[in-house]
Amino acid sequence: MGCGAKQVVFNALFASLDPGDEVLIPTPCWVSYPDMVALAGGKPVLVTCSERDGFKLLPEALDQAITPRTKWLMLNSPCNPTGAVYSRSDLLALAAVLRRHGHVHVLSDTSMKSSPMTPTLQRWPQSRRTCASVP
Ligand SMILES: Cc1ncc(COP(=O)(O)O)c(C=O)c1O
Repeated sequence: MGCGAKQVVFNALFASLDPGDEVLIPTPCWVSYPDMVALAGGKPVLVTCSERDGFKLLPEALDQAITPRTKWLMLNSPCNPTGAVYSRSDLLALAAVLRRHGHVHVLSDTSMKSSPMTPTLQRWPQSRRTCASVP
């Protein structure tokens, strides 16, 4: 519950990050994410998503970016500013990586109720630990 997506995402980060915890942010990203992570004491880790890949996070890039300090993966679909939309198969490929890294939580910022992410995220093993699904 919150006054908007910005507050809910910030609350989740502020409540959960310990100093130096890393937050993976597929980039290009919504402009506020890195500063919100930094304000909450975390370390934003920008993971580049190329135009060639539809600006979507690839499973290999996710795998390489995860460290023992990774606390969150931020997922935003449809993405602001790129418009990238993760399909069910995209998400299942990312989930396969996350299953091997059980310490990583998923912060899902889905700006549309009808986003394909919503039902897929609910089926993820990690979904019980998903802190925020916005809105
Ligand atoms: C991806 C994303 N998350 C969060 C927000 C902030 O949403 P709100 O205005 O509900 O705080 C925006 C606003 O543009 C956004 O694009």
